[in-house]
Amino acid sequence: MSQQPAPAPAERPVALVTGAAQRLGRAIALDLAAHGWAVAVHYRQSADAAARTVAEARALGAPAEAFAADLADEAACAALLPAVAAHFGAVCAVVNNASRFDYDTVDDFGHAAMERHWRANTAAPILLARALHAHRLAAGGRGAVVNLLDQKLWNPNPDYLSYTLSKAALEAATTLLAQALAPVLRVAGVAPGVTLLSGPMSAAEFERAHRLTPLQRSSTPEDIARAVRFVLESPAITGTTLLVDGGQHLMPQPRDVLFLAQDD
Ligand SMILES: NC(=O)c1ccc[n+]([C@@H]2O[C@H](COP(=O)([O-])OP(=O)(O)OC[C@H]3O[C@@H](n4cnc5c(N)ncnc54)[C@H](OP(=O)(O)O)[C@@H]3O)[C@@H](O)[C@H]2O)c1
Repeated sequence: MSQQPAPAPAERPVALVTGAAQRLGRAIALDLAAHGWAVAVHYRQSADAAARTVAEARALGAPAEAFAADLADEAACAALLPAVAAHFGAVCAVVNNASRFDYDTVDDFGHAAMERHWRANTAAPILLARALHAHRLAAGGRGAVVNLLDQKLWNPNPDYLSYTLSKAALEAATTLLAQALAPVLRVAGVAPGVTLLSGPMSAAEFERAHRLTPLQRSSTPEDIARAVRFVLESPAITGTTLLVDGGQHLMPQPRDVLFLAQDD
């Protein structure tokens, strides 16, 4: 924890966190709010939860505002960063956290599923990074982008095929964007392990899945938020990914951990 007093609200750097109404995005936004940032809380459908995140961030002393956009809609996605900039002035960072996570396999894979995941999980982060680059160029300063990835890219299995492919493309885009948008922007990834109960998991299955790592604990929302803040505040980091997963990626898993932890 920093011993420095928090900067005055008007001096705080501004971060846009996508999908920040609840779950990991909320934890990232509130961690930033607690450590000297102002936060733009993006949401798609969860307006009430987004309003609660904004209220909690303000209670921490951070300027905060909610912004709605369906990131699968190219025009809505393109309008998001300008809307945040119009509200706050300069924007320094984008955390691409929002994500679609639907189950499919090779057997039921199709263009529709791939396109849904591609639009939200891959194309939107690229468009937001490009928009931040244009904004920082105009403002004459530097900035950073963090893409939320997934440990399963380093420990692959064919479950959640379209999701996995969309995140694999985002991991490649992290390298390509770091090349294309330097020196104005740094672009890096943070790859969580099993952090929150997702999909059809029971609470007991989640507890078991969370322990299926070399460290016998996967990541918590606080671990992920701390790693995102570390990347945002580390001026020499770009074009790489931090795996924050209790070492889950070191433990080969032939299927999604959901199935490995399942009750018989
Ligand atoms: N949870 C985990 O254990 C875990 C593990 C590995 C990686 N990750 C990664 O970490 C990130 C956060 O995970 P999470 O489980 O907290 O995410 P999540 O709950 O599955 O999704 C976060 C938010 O994404 C938003 N979203 C989805 N599609 C959207 C779209 N088309 N346009 C705009 N927003 C959209 C939703 O906002 P609304 O509710 O407002 O509609 C949703 O609340 C994701 O990138 C995920 O891949 C998570």
